[in-house]
Amino acid sequence: MINVLRGFRDILPPDSEGFAAIEAEARKVFALYGFRELRIPTLEKKELFIKSTGTTTDIVQKEMYSFTDAGGREIANRPEGTPGIARAYIENNLNQSGRNSKFFYIANMFRAERPQAGRYREFEQIGAENIGGGGPASDAETISMLVNLLENIGIKDIVVDINSLGCAECRNVYRAQLLEFLKQHSETLCEACRGRIEQNPLRALDCKIDGPRLAETAPQMQLCEACGTHFSETQELLNLAGVKFRVNHSLVRGLDYYTRTVFEVRSNAIGSQDAIAAGGRYDDLIKSMGGPNVPAVGWAMGVDRVALLLKEQFAAAEHGVKVFVVASVKEAAKQAREKAFALLSSLRKAGISADFSNFEASFKSQMRAANKSGAAWAFIIGEEELKNGTVSVKDMRNAAEQEQIKLEEAADFFTKVLD
Ligand code: HAM
Repeated sequence: MINVLRGFRDILPPDSEGFAAIEAEARKVFALYGFRELRIPTLEKKELFIKSTGTTTDIVQKEMYSFTDAGGREIANRPEGTPGIARAYIENNLNQSGRNSKFFYIANMFRAERPQAGRYREFEQIGAENIGGGGPASDAETISMLVNLLENIGIKDIVVDINSLGCAECRNVYRAQLLEFLKQHSETLCEACRGRIEQNPLRALDCKIDGPRLAETAPQMQLCEACGTHFSETQELLNLAGVKFRVNHSLVRGLDYYTRTVFEVRSNAIGSQDAIAAGGRYDDLIKSMGGPNVPAVGWAMGVDRVALLLKEQFAAAEHGVKVFVVASVKEAAKQAREKAFALLSSLRKAGISADFSNFEASFKSQMRAANKSGAAWAFIIGEEELKNGTVSVKDMRNAAEQEQIKLEEAADFFTKVLD
């Protein structure tokens, strides 16, 4: 027996149907906000993620699934979608389209993290990237679209945290101040933070161990006037859109490309601290990758985590077919099988979902399968029905009810009378 890889998993029904329902809702919401689908490849040059996700991130330092292909190229399975979208934007000259480029993707990502509930090595993200919109209205639009989506899916108790990381200038000043502070207190920091403060001092602020204490004691970032205005206008617009949020100055995000607004969404319904969606603005990324100087803002939602929150709801949803066809005739078995098979075809052609188990099995066993299938109706062809050219219609939820109808009128009868 060969087992699935650690951190990878099979998503079985009804969970798989839950994923599909979330994706369908996302497509509806994206259409409302004018976002269109951009499909990016699973594999990219490893360099793409090193240059964009960033060398100081956990993703690039230790979580990438990368390999050298037969042609000697260094390749990585995408750990996130933003770099691929930015590359596609540059490579396809999408800045020349004459309008903002608003894209979404629904794609699997790969990160070699330590697996736990809600954290997998292959997981699905639904992501949105709004490229070209530099003003606070784009931040507010992107965040309110996310909240709108989560509400439509049925996620309760959403907590939205936002912060501003300022522009490169605000951050340079702050980095120096914070580094100075962290160095003075380095003996109080955890080992991971001590190792990375020189490279990226801001990461200490969202460290699970040191973060809460630093939030009280470390100096706070002072935004320049333009970044301060951008942040306060973003908040005003979020209020206008009816989005509830908290300003959280310790929110710094674990990816290198963010500028100005960053945000994370959690649900109080899961005990875990993990975010169900997160994102932010990345005004310098596309230029730094050799593209035009265009601002951008986006987010990604972890579909596995959202699905975990809705697990019970998915399990309770009805996924059975409408009709289960049962044929059981001892003498003219072949004839009955053919009639039943033709009935299945005509039901499906009429758009009525229908299923069967095994016409060779006993009547009892076929009825048991009908019960398990969750079908609302059983259409039965037995001895008498075969003789009369009819089919018996049985209401599976109301066992007493049964009536015979003409076989060739079965699909029509279903559409007009049953459903
Ligand atoms: P991220 O915070 O790395 O951001 O991931 C976004 C979401 O993906 C997380 O909030 C979480 O729900 C889900 N996620 C991440 N890792 C895992 C995992 N191992 N297992 C299950 N779910 C996971 C990004 O990826 C950015 N590209 C977001 C973005 C888009 N920023 C701007 N545009």
